[in-house]
Amino acid sequence: DRMEDFIRGIPKTELHMHLEGSLEPELLMRLGERNKCQLRWKTAEELRNAYEFSDLQSFLDLYYEGCQVLVEEADFYELARAYLRKAHAENVVRAEVFLGPQSFTSKGVDIASVLNGTLKAIDDAEQEDGISCGLIVTAQRHRTEQDALDLLEQVRPWFSRILGIGMGGAEKGNPPSKFRHFFRACRREGIRITAHAGEEGPASYVREAVELLGVDRVDHGVSCLDDPALVREMADIKIPLTVCPISNLRLKGVPSLEAHPLKKLMDAGLHVTVNSDDPSYFRGYVSENLVECQRALGLTVEEIVSLVRNGFTAAFISPAERAAAL
Ligand code: ADE
Ligand code: ZN
Repeated sequence: DRMEDFIRGIPKTELHMHLEGSLEPELLMRLGERNKCQLRWKTAEELRNAYEFSDLQSFLDLYYEGCQVLVEEADFYELARAYLRKAHAENVVRAEVFLGPQSFTSKGVDIASVLNGTLKAIDDAEQEDGISCGLIVTAQRHRTEQDALDLLEQVRPWFSRILGIGMGGAEKGNPPSKFRHFFRACRREGIRITAHAGEEGPASYVREAVELLGVDRVDHGVSCLDDPALVREMADIKIPLTVCPISNLRLKGVPSLEAHPLKKLMDAGLHVTVNSDDPSYFRGYVSENLVECQRALGLTVEEIVSLVRNGFTAAFISPAERAAAL
C-alpha cells in the first residue's frame, strides 16, 4: 500500500503519548515477574484480551493496574527505551512523551528512580538512534491541586531536564480550573504547559485550559467543536491540538473512525496534530493513527503532510532544532 508506506516513511512527531500506555503486555508480564507482583493475568495473551474499554475510566483502571509493575529505575529505563525504539522504527524523529510520577510515588517508588531511569533511556535513544525526545511530567487530575504542587516541588531538581508539565487522568468532574494555581506556579518557573481537555469533558473545559490556564497545547480538545466562538478563538491564536483518533475510538468517544471529527477540526482552521495516546492499550502507534484516519476519512496526501507538518510546528523545539530534525 503506497499511502501506508508513505505515512510510515515520512519523518514525524509524536506529541501526545503516555509512556505508561506504551507498556506492551510481554514487558508488563516480565516486569511483573521480576518485581514479584500479584497480577490477575497468567499470560501476555490473556492480558491483551482484557484491552476492551467502555470509556476513559474503564481504561484508566487497567492502565493504573499495569503501572504497579514499574518499580525500579531499570524498569522505567526499559519502558522508555522500548517505546523510543518503536518510535524510531516508524520514523518518529521528535517525541514529546508524558509520564505521571504520582502513580508510582503514591506507592512508595522514589521519584529519582522514575525520572533518572526515563531520562537515561531518552539520552541513550538520542545517542544510539538519533531520535530527539523530551519528557513532559503530568499531574493526575483526580488528585488534589496540593498533590500537583507537591509534585512540582519533587521534580524541581530535574527542571532543566523537563520539557513541560501536563495533566491527565479522569476528566469529568475535574475541570482545568481546579488546577489554576498549580499551572500558574509552573508558568512562574518558565515551564511550558499542556493539559488534557475536551476528551470526555465539555467545550467549557477546553475554554478553561486555553483562557484560564493559558496552555501551550491542548491535549485532545475535540469537544471544542461544540463552541464555535471558542473554535474561532483557538484558530486565531493557532493553539495546537494533539488529537488521538484511535484512542477516541477505543474509549467510545466516537462510534467509528469514519465518525471522527478530525477533518472538521482541520477544516475549522485549527492547528491539528495526530498522535497515539496509549499505543499499547489502544493497539496503534502514530503511523497506525494516520493510516487508519486516512482510510476512514479519505484524507489526501496534502492533508497528511499538513497534519505531520503541524506536529513539527507544535513541538516544543526552537526553529533551529526543527531545521536540524528535518
Ligand atoms: N492518561 C493516559 N491516557 C489518558 C487519556 N486518554 N486521557 C486522560 N488521561 C490519560
Ligand atoms: Zn493522553
